[in-house]
Amino acid sequence: MTATTGAGREHIERVLEIIKKTERDGLMTDRRGEGLAGISGLKTVGALQRLVGLFADDSRACYLEIGVFQGLTLVSAALAAPGLACFGIDNFATLDPDGKNREIATERLQRFGAVNATLIDSDFEAALADLDGRLDGRKIAVYFIDGPHDYRSQMVCLLLALGHLHDRCVIVIDDANYACVRQATADFLAGHPGFKMVFEAYGPAHPANMEGAELEHWEEGWLNGVNVLVRDAEGLLPDMVPPTESDKTRHFNEWLIHRLRRAELAPEAVVLADAICTGDVAAEEKARKALLNKYGIWRDISDGRYPDRNTASGGLTEARFNEISE
Ligand SMILES: C[S@@+](CC[C@H](N)C(=O)[O-])C[C@H]1O[C@@H](n2cnc3c(N)ncnc32)[C@H](O)[C@@H]1O
Repeated sequence: MTATTGAGREHIERVLEIIKKTERDGLMTDRRGEGLAGISGLKTVGALQRLVGLFADDSRACYLEIGVFQGLTLVSAALAAPGLACFGIDNFATLDPDGKNREIATERLQRFGAVNATLIDSDFEAALADLDGRLDGRKIAVYFIDGPHDYRSQMVCLLLALGHLHDRCVIVIDDANYACVRQATADFLAGHPGFKMVFEAYGPAHPANMEGAELEHWEEGWLNGVNVLVRDAEGLLPDMVPPTESDKTRHFNEWLIHRLRRAELAPEAVVLADAICTGDVAAEEKARKALLNKYGIWRDISDGRYPDRNTASGGLTEARFNEISE
């Protein structure tokens, strides 16, 4: 066995040990009594708290998360490894009806003394494209992906970070209950054999569709599911991929919907379709209003399109080469 193999094996075994401990014990440090709460499962937070500890003495390493919300995971990771630079990216564009999350996250970072944490107020894609300037030569050792969960966003979170990942990187992908999240993880693993999944956990439903003791149970666990990947350049681990759906209708629908004139109205249109299909007249009226409201927002742009097969290729070059420079 070479020295490199030994080091890789030891690292992966440590990661597995941490996840097993988290399965048994949940949170490492509980600050809920002091007001540190959020929308991640307690085992997810516990795993992040322990994983950052692996890199506490590595000045080249950092923690990065997409999706800060009110700061639970960013503050928890930063406090668990005070010497590790921690970065959290959020544009506070969703899950924030009162527009208070930026303020709450900032206040918590200060109140809990998470001086090693930096909040990056930005769209995740713009921030990831500019990581060189942000990380100051550090590599992402623990990467927590918990932002927008559409297939493309999941994939972009993985792909744009690739060149910045530490050679012992651990990637924790939240909300893996969603089929499109699992599909993105599976597709990433298929194209990147140097990464392997070490752990997966799922629940029976999204927490929004649970209540009472059932909800409490999953809140104490991995909440809406998790996929954990490690870099495994030596191929020590066997393949393990998250389950995906064999019927790809909804993925193909993306193309059919994207090319339609009113594509941006798709969520409201599907809610309206649901009300029509179930014969719920009150819901239909509400959904119709929501649809027309959204139409008002997109009217100017969408009225200028074709009814279908919009390609967004108007004004693009007719032909262009890339050539090797002299
Ligand atoms: C589920 S919350 C994160 C929960 C958080 N990790 C916690 O510990 O409670 C998802 C976050 O992703 C953010 N988000 C959604 N789309 C984004 C985007 N395009 N760029 C950056 N952040 C985004 C939302 O603003 C939201 O705060």
